[in-house]
Amino acid sequence: MVDPNLRVLISAEKIQARIRELGQQISEDYPTGKLHLVCILKGACFFLTDLARAMKRDVSVDFMGISTYGKGKSSSGEVRVTKDLDISLEGADVLIVEDIVDSGVTLNYLMHVLEQRKPHSLRIAALLDKPERRLRPIHANYVGFRIPDRFVVGYGLDYAERYRNLDDICVLEEPAG
Ligand code: IMP
Ligand code: MG
Repeated sequence: MVDPNLRVLISAEKIQARIRELGQQISEDYPTGKLHLVCILKGACFFLTDLARAMKRDVSVDFMGISTYGKGKSSSGEVRVTKDLDISLEGADVLIVEDIVDSGVTLNYLMHVLEQRKPHSLRIAALLDKPERRLRPIHANYVGFRIPDRFVVGYGLDYAERYRNLDDICVLEEPAG
């Protein structure tokens, strides 16, 4: 896709290499027992499929839809579940798979919601982290890349539903539309 507003920040090769490392690390951290991956729709589904295959262990997967009431570059801070999980978390080792931690509002809310479902453990894997933007305290246990405070698209991340299918993660310089 040739788009003058896109500048590659993290190449597809770097993304895939880092995901292989994360998959190995997570496999080592959970040597036994079941591991349940909870993918936050829609942005994290590209990361989920590559991360799950980078783990040399059995995993189960489920999907959760979260809306932060916003179509543009920042969310309003109001979070709501738009699609709930199909599988119970009770007693499970749960790893939330998220595309990016920005303000932390979404994951802060989600951690509270999921903790009430009594998992055995609950951790976060986020492909990207923008620590400068944090409004709520969130510690992601596994982070692919820490990035500066720039709006990025690609590899699952969108701007108004566009650009999710880019292989690279790109800075969106001048948003169209
Ligand atoms: P938070 O609640 O502010 O941490 O926002 C998390 C959600 O905002 C992510 O799951 C993304 O969907 C979206 N988001 C935050 N930063 C970006 C970005 O740079 N590009 C695309 N989406 C983003
Ligand atoms: Mg989004």
